[in-house]
Amino acid sequence: MSERLSLRQGYFADPKAFQALADLLHDVFGIDITLQNRLGGPDPSSMPFGYFDEAGRCIANFSAFSMPLVIEGRVVKTAGFQSGAVRPGYRGRGLYRDLMHRAFAWADAEGFEVGILLTDKPDLYRSFGFQVVPQFHFCGNMPKTSFRKVHSRDLDLANADDITLVSDILANRQPVSRMFAVQRQSEMFLLNALFDPEIRLSYLPALDAVIGWKIDGDTVQLLDIAARQIPLVADICAALGVPLERIEVFFPTDRLGWSGDAKPYAGSCALMVRGIDPSAVPTPAMLSPMADF
Ligand SMILES: CC(C)(COP(=O)(O)OP(=O)(O)OC[C@H]1O[C@@H](n2cnc3c(N)ncnc32)[C@H](O)[C@@H]1OP(=O)(O)O)[C@@H](O)C(=O)NCCC(=O)NCCS
Repeated sequence: MSERLSLRQGYFADPKAFQALADLLHDVFGIDITLQNRLGGPDPSSMPFGYFDEAGRCIANFSAFSMPLVIEGRVVKTAGFQSGAVRPGYRGRGLYRDLMHRAFAWADAEGFEVGILLTDKPDLYRSFGFQVVPQFHFCGNMPKTSFRKVHSRDLDLANADDITLVSDILANRQPVSRMFAVQRQSEMFLLNALFDPEIRLSYLPALDAVIGWKIDGDTVQLLDIAARQIPLVADICAALGVPLERIEVFFPTDRLGWSGDAKPYAGSCALMVRGIDPSAVPTPAMLSPMADF
């Protein structure tokens, strides 16, 4: 291809370039990241690396962003990597390898200790030192509780007040686990809730907590909890008032006063880390699906 491509990095301040990335991700993955514009905008820590053609189309992209994790009680400076895509006509000529090199070198220079990504193509990343971390979710019976304040309100992300309420809690949240969790990451929580219409966000006033959850048959699936202090799962279940017997939790349960049976999680994407040995990630663990990126 004789066409000249130009490399741009950190280009989100240019609305046309952000829209060009949104078009690329829409064409390749069928997702609409411009939804973020009504949720407070993209993560300000994002550092996108992209190739653009002369017409301003984004041809290839790979982005890094800051995603501090708590791993066994320690806050670890972590870079997440996302939005990796190349337009079909431009694949197989090294564009993605070039962008991966740039993004990982940038993260190293910025002093990120650990890198993390989710992918259905783990082989792409092994030569850069990424290794798969097995994930587990936790299944069991709904715990009993003496908690009486059965009250919850479904939140609607089309409502600006509800966005503000969730954003405030996310900004001041306690990590959902001491073992393995994001310390802070609001943008993906909100975007994931919009991407999947089956995800319910409920506000529990008595616990001042936002719960991300779903129902699957006879089971409540607890995806994440945003709260200044993580409540017990028994109290959450009582406040949600759902008359179901079974519960599945998609993050480590150390703060919940409850533990289910750990079962291997067979999601469509593997969790990979770099800069830390996968055996240093506590087992069993899982990154909340509300933090998917
Ligand atoms: C995956 C994708 C980004 C690769 O882009 P690309 O520009 O063709 O990749 P490159 O030419 O830079 O190749 C990089 C390396 O990845 C390898 N590779 C390419 N596609 C691969 C795949 N599907 N699985 C494993 N390895 C792959 C190449 O063989 C090459 O290896 P080498 O450098 O050792 O020869 C592109 O095919 C794409 O956009 N696919 C759809 C979206 C996607 O899957 N994104 C990744 C999400 S994690």
